[in-house]
Amino acid sequence: MAERETWTTRVGFIFAAVGSAVGLGNIWSFPFQTGSNGGAAFLVVYLAIVFLFGFPAMLMEFVIGRRSEKNPISAFGELGFPNWSFAGTLGVLGSMVTLAFYSVIGGWVLSYIVGSLTGAYFGDAGAFFGSVSAGGLAVGTHAIFMAMTVGIVAFGVQSGIERATKFMIPAIIVLLLGMAVWGATLEGAAAGYDYYLSPDFQYLTENIASIVPAAVGQAFFTLSLGFSVMIAYASYLGRDDSLPADGGAIVVINTLVALLAGFVIFPVLFAIGVEPGSGGTSTAFVGLAGAFGQLPGGAVLGAAFFVVLLLAALSSAISLLETPTSYVVDNYDYERKTVATALGAAIFALGVPTALDTGTLGWYNDVVFKLLLPIVVLLFALFVGWVAYGPSTDELTQGSTFGDGFTTLWLWWVRLVIPVGIGLTLVLGVQELLVKAQILESAVILA
Ligand code: PHE
Repeated sequence: MAERETWTTRVGFIFAAVGSAVGLGNIWSFPFQTGSNGGAAFLVVYLAIVFLFGFPAMLMEFVIGRRSEKNPISAFGELGFPNWSFAGTLGVLGSMVTLAFYSVIGGWVLSYIVGSLTGAYFGDAGAFFGSVSAGGLAVGTHAIFMAMTVGIVAFGVQSGIERATKFMIPAIIVLLLGMAVWGATLEGAAAGYDYYLSPDFQYLTENIASIVPAAVGQAFFTLSLGFSVMIAYASYLGRDDSLPADGGAIVVINTLVALLAGFVIFPVLFAIGVEPGSGGTSTAFVGLAGAFGQLPGGAVLGAAFFVVLLLAALSSAISLLETPTSYVVDNYDYERKTVATALGAAIFALGVPTALDTGTLGWYNDVVFKLLLPIVVLLFALFVGWVAYGPSTDELTQGSTFGDGFTTLWLWWVRLVIPVGIGLTLVLGVQELLVKAQILESAVILA
């Protein structure tokens, strides 16, 4: 079996992890969730959750990955607790289910890039969305997006993932910055910023019970936590890297990209007078695309925006495919190319029902967000905090200058605060799922 790869440089790892984190979650859901949940008031809650829950939870996955230097399924046995492999396995399954529908949305983005150039959605963005989001075309674009993902993962950690993300992340940031400057010149910019950034505390206090679980789900999803992805990525990491410093950098960059996306989207929407509305994904594809269609230079702006979205989605998709791929490559004597292709084909098939019906896509999304993700984070917290706390705390200090106080605080945080917080989120999420299941016909999908 070939020797296991590592990232060439520390920056290479950070780019790859940021690539995983920055995705549809940042550029798509984040601005809309903020807009529809009370603007800046939501932002404060969200940022608190990202730093208080997301950052320490990312370190949980990092210590498991780097300590074991194994894929997320074998890692637990390597650390001496093979009974816990099911936790990593659940995470890997979560990755695969997520990639199944994530790739379908990636396919929509492909259609929107073409549609920006041809002007196909300028007249009737709603009809365009209907024609590309479900049906034969959606299956086809899903296949293309998946093939692109396989193409990168097949080349491996260094010449595939690291090389691709080193180009993609700067491209995303530069394009978004350019569009934000353009956005500032639009007529609706001031109103857009106001909507995005002025807090509605009354809305927040009245809806806190639904806002907090939404913010928790969004925070974990955007940081790529709960799917074992960060275990896989950290397993290729050098021993003298500081996990807290790298984790901090990844969390900060990911948050800045999300904030930046809002500075593009809201001026565009307000320039045309599109009500940001309830923030559903399909509403967003329709509302924002419609606005591009009416703006001078909208074709270029739209194409640039959807290219950013494609790069972001692709750099996340490769991390989702790398996770199961790393398991097979570590344990069986198959070529990485063969493994990535076979897994890509299987996940493509799993995604086909969601490419035929956006309702099904919404269900995949809900099950992942509300069920799998919190369960896996809870299991990782229990494992790191109460089972493998010795090697875990040891690993956290390895290469780090953060000191023992930080490690102790982190350990107790992982032992108590994260399980309580995530446990509550899980209960609320399951309740919501049950309610939805009972009112199946009227369930509105993909909120
Ligand atoms: N973080 C990605 C996003 O925001 C999604 C993702 C989740 C990617 C989990 C990998 C693992 O879109």
